[in-house]
Amino acid sequence: MLKAAERLSGMDKEQESEGKLIVSAPMLQNFAATSMGVVFAVSALANGYVLVGEKPDLSDARKVLCGGYRVTDIDDRVIRVRLTGLKPATRYYYRIGADRISYKGGYQMKILGNEEDPNTYSFMTAGEAAEAHFCVINDTHARWEPFGLAVEKIAVCAPACVIWNGDASNVEETVEAQMRIFLTPEIERKDYASEMPYLFCPGNHDNRGMANRHLDRVWMFRQPEERQPRDWDLGRNFAIRQGDLALIGLDTAEDKLDTNPKFAGLFTSGPYREAQTEWLRDALQREEIRTAPYLVAFCHIPLFDDNPRHNPGDVAPADSDPQYSTDFAYWQRTCARLWGPLLEEAGCQLVITAHQHRYRYDAPGNGRSWAQIVGGGPEMNEPDSDSFPTVIEGIVRQGRLEIIVHNLLTGRVQSQFSFQAKRRG
Ligand SMILES: [Fe+2]
Ligand SMILES: [Fe+2]
Repeated sequence: MLKAAERLSGMDKEQESEGKLIVSAPMLQNFAATSMGVVFAVSALANGYVLVGEKPDLSDARKVLCGGYRVTDIDDRVIRVRLTGLKPATRYYYRIGADRISYKGGYQMKILGNEEDPNTYSFMTAGEAAEAHFCVINDTHARWEPFGLAVEKIAVCAPACVIWNGDASNVEETVEAQMRIFLTPEIERKDYASEMPYLFCPGNHDNRGMANRHLDRVWMFRQPEERQPRDWDLGRNFAIRQGDLALIGLDTAEDKLDTNPKFAGLFTSGPYREAQTEWLRDALQREEIRTAPYLVAFCHIPLFDDNPRHNPGDVAPADSDPQYSTDFAYWQRTCARLWGPLLEEAGCQLVITAHQHRYRYDAPGNGRSWAQIVGGGPEMNEPDSDSFPTVIEGIVRQGRLEIIVHNLLTGRVQSQFSFQAKRRG
């Protein structure tokens, strides 16, 4: 018995494990003009890579390893590869692969085998010459039915990119739970994000749970060199030119104050929002953003709400006040004060938000030049209310920004809006 056990322990443990090494389709994350993130799941310690080129047969492909400089980012669950130095508005083809690694110490490491996904995928980078067409989903909360419906609707719309506007999570304590949400969701279309690039504006729930404190393990940041040193920690904020559209992604962070005793001093939403204000100020000045005829911003918690019962998220110290219907932020007055004037000055036409699980349209008014759309929630059993899952589609055609709100419960278009181009001043 012992002899057999010794023999077994003499073998590489990883060799014993059978089955596939690559256990998910790739997901395109943090879509940009000159870079793209490719993330996939593995079942054992692996050194992952992407082969990427402009020719469909990949005869011109280069191999990009996971991680950055110095050492690769071997991992036994999630492989993250950031492709940089890409050309804007250009189609690329790619495959994913991984070496199975045995690691027994600093001088005892070897490759046990190699696996490549046989599929060749492709994507288009962002850019002024790219198509001005996006879709937004939000508050999916790991509910597979509404998420599956959203993914199918997106496949029909075929936008250039998708903005996942927060609350993808509930409370996630493990990397495995996070992988299930983004990389191996229980929906039919497993490769939902292999050719459709995603951007992410986290919601309050995407901060909840020990694993979500390191969400970048499954939703990678952009590389530090893709932004200025002051903004290195703002790895998911985006300011992207996509045809005639400029798309701005912000993170409203938690729906409770940092001072709320429930949070035990473990959150720093306040300084995070202020850091994003400086980033936003500069992003809006960038030539390709400033000159875009349409400016649309995305964030999870609404920046406007005219219902006096709705908690504005700045009730110190513990978010509690009997005049409000909830003891957490229903909308974000602090973010509205920090970001609203900058968006206003930049001529923003529309802010798309989420969080309330009820679809709503707020027309511009009272000194606010931008409209707001609040996306619906994951509920599938309230057909007569405003609580239904949505895909919000935006497309520039015939000199207008058309917004189509798809109701996933009825399968019909809920509403349509049309926005004029900015007046050039
Ligand atoms: Fe939510
Ligand atoms: Fe939320």
